[in-house]
Amino acid sequence: MHILLLGNGGREHALAWKLAQSPQVTKISVAPGSAGIASEPLVEQVNIALDNHSALSDYASSENVHLCVVGPEVPLVAGVVDHFEQAGIRIIGPRAAAAQLEGSKAFAKAFMQRHNIPTSTHKTFTNADEAHAYLDEQGAPIVIKADGLAAGKGVVVAHTLNEAHAAVSAMLADHTFGKAGATVVIEDFLSGEEASFIALVDGTHCLPFATSQDHKARDDGDRGPNTGGMGAYSPAPVVTPAIEKHIMRDIVEPTVAGLQKDGTPFKGFLYVGLMIDSNDKASVVEYNVRLGDPETQPLLMRLDSDLLSLLDAAVDGTLNQVQAQWKKESALGVVLAGGDYPSAGSKGETISGISDAEDIGCKVFHAGSDKENDSFVTNGGRVLCVTALGSDIKAAKQAADKGAAAITFARMHYRRDIGYRAIDRLVEA
Ligand code: GLY
Repeated sequence: MHILLLGNGGREHALAWKLAQSPQVTKISVAPGSAGIASEPLVEQVNIALDNHSALSDYASSENVHLCVVGPEVPLVAGVVDHFEQAGIRIIGPRAAAAQLEGSKAFAKAFMQRHNIPTSTHKTFTNADEAHAYLDEQGAPIVIKADGLAAGKGVVVAHTLNEAHAAVSAMLADHTFGKAGATVVIEDFLSGEEASFIALVDGTHCLPFATSQDHKARDDGDRGPNTGGMGAYSPAPVVTPAIEKHIMRDIVEPTVAGLQKDGTPFKGFLYVGLMIDSNDKASVVEYNVRLGDPETQPLLMRLDSDLLSLLDAAVDGTLNQVQAQWKKESALGVVLAGGDYPSAGSKGETISGISDAEDIGCKVFHAGSDKENDSFVTNGGRVLCVTALGSDIKAAKQAADKGAAAITFARMHYRRDIGYRAIDRLVEA
């Protein structure tokens, strides 16, 4: 079977790597892909832009593609699934109406209020003066979010009122995020421990994936600017079996039922970003309508089942008839970032040591790299994700750290403490 995969990052590399292991898969075309992803067996790059939905569906239909798998949120919010479905081509992901859960923070907040899904109190503003007045009433810490997609940069967790006012001015007066920041959501700060909970959904049924957790801050100790994620691991011990039950009962299932009730059923990966407080109560921080990056890299390393069979069941509405098997081992991924990430990426710096890292048992997923004269070079902010399995989270971290240390490129930066919270829990247990 021929698969068309959309995207070019570390998450898509992990998807291609896992799909290539399926006995049913004969070819994977990845658009636009990258040289690193195309180094996997069965994978070839196709030069079609993600916003050219007609060219993508023409390619899928002329190549007799069995299934299109969508990695990133932008094409989902732009309606690539609606387009493929109208053309009669199998695709996994939510239609544009359901993808609004990620495409509009104001939509997501109103949805949660309507369906009694736990989340922080919020207000939505388009007028800067009104937003500033609200900040003065509320005080800090407080969270300011651009309503639309802002490539992971539209959320400011303001610890002081000055930072909060600056964020509102940047979005509503200086238009830093253009249309995406023309509406802002201001919400109460939630304290606790963050976790990511991902489920595969077929419109009605949900298949929970193994738990995972990422580290969004750039620097050790969860300091420095917010990023798309500097590393991730699975399982996430903060999500105990009792908390997982609570998340499914009070958050994931009501979300899927609410979307169905609203006439916008959800198919695809539903990612719920959660804050778990000291009473083990989970609240939704954000929804994403796709797999997390870098959570996917450790998650798919632990998945023992055939990914294509799970995706096919989601498309066919039969997820209640399948189960996902997970390795008992833990997996952990360390992101190697370049340049001044997250403010600017790196380009053209030669990368060495990838095969050394793989020789010692790591899998190196390419996120922002390219190939020049047969060598890999940097081409982005998050360049690689070095991922490893281990008997527990500490062993997985040791293995991934060893792999990371084998790799070099100019101005490479990575966190040395990925997984520290899970390791602290191991010590406490
Ligand atoms: N790791 C966070 C995200 O994928 O949005």
